Amino acid sequence: VSSELEPKENMKTVDETRDHIHRMWSAVAPAWADHAAYVDDRSHAEAIQMLRLTDPRPGERVLELACGAGGVGLAAAELVGPDGEVVLSDVAVEMTAIASARVATRGLDQVTTRVLDMEQLAEPECSYDVVLCRDSLMFVPDPGRAVREIYRVLRPGGRFAVTVWGSRARNPWLGVVFDVVAAQMDAPMPPPGVPGPFSLGDAVKLAGLFRDAALNDVCVTEISVPLRDDSFDDWWQRTTALAGPLSMILASQTEAFNAALRTRAREAVRPYQTGRALEFPGVALLASGRRV
Ligand SMILES: C[S@@+](CC[C@H](N)C(=O)[O-])C[C@H]1O[C@@H](n2cnc3c(N)ncnc32)[C@H](O)[C@@H]1O
Repeated sequence: VSSELEPKENMKTVDETRDHIHRMWSAVAPAWADHAAYVDDRSHAEAIQMLRLTDPRPGERVLELACGAGGVGLAAAELVGPDGEVVLSDVAVEMTAIASARVATRGLDQVTTRVLDMEQLAEPECSYDVVLCRDSLMFVPDPGRAVREIYRVLRPGGRFAVTVWGSRARNPWLGVVFDVVAAQMDAPMPPPGVPGPFSLGDAVKLAGLFRDAALNDVCVTEISVPLRDDSFDDWWQRTTALAGPLSMILASQTEAFNAALRTRAREAVRPYQTGRALEFPGVALLASGRRV
């Protein structure tokens, strides 16, 4: 007897979607290594606010989720000092390897790396003073589950700070890329069922996720994260290389497809062009609070 819940042909189950998403991020890890300094710089304002609000103190334990190259956790390491501990974690071992190499270069004994899926953290409850997660929560199929995990691993009194991208309209530096790929493929982008970068771009919805997980003093603020690139080519190359949900799709297309896509993108970014450079607005939402 066929059930409504059975996956139809070409439809992925949620677990298959999860595996697919994790593989997507593994595939773009080399680009995250190449552009680690750029990402640190670009997302510096977010890191500063996240650390200001969570205030990691000497001797405390900090967990960074979905760390990529680990920029936020590396900054936290200075604050907890040699008596504290920072764990940089990501679902992709290729990402934790990048973070690990950066830890080694800096000689930070208080920082370790771990492969962890934020939807099911293999960590004991009440084990961290601070949890940080930058620009990543919106990519998991069930963000509510990830937020409940944040609650579980925080100690009473522990603090969290999580950023996500605001709406697509307010982040044309990335929204334009998704728009032109969707237009060129004549298909929704990201594909149905795959959570995209703007899926938590509503401040009320975002705050609700944390309140529903029994976290306290939940506050969502906006951070302006503009993006300037010296040329169209710089922006296009880097943005498409770093974007997990896109880079595998683009890699599987023909040269003619990708050339047509670039032409479409050049046209779409005209409103943001100042001479050869591109200047885009960008907005991140920062959710913070604590477990009582
Ligand atoms: C846009 S990158 C952000 C990286 C880093 N937080 C930063 O701000 O530079 C998204 C990251 O989320 C990670 N990721 C995706 N799904 C995850 C999951 N379920 N658990 C942990 N990490 C995940 C990816 O591997 C990737 O490193």
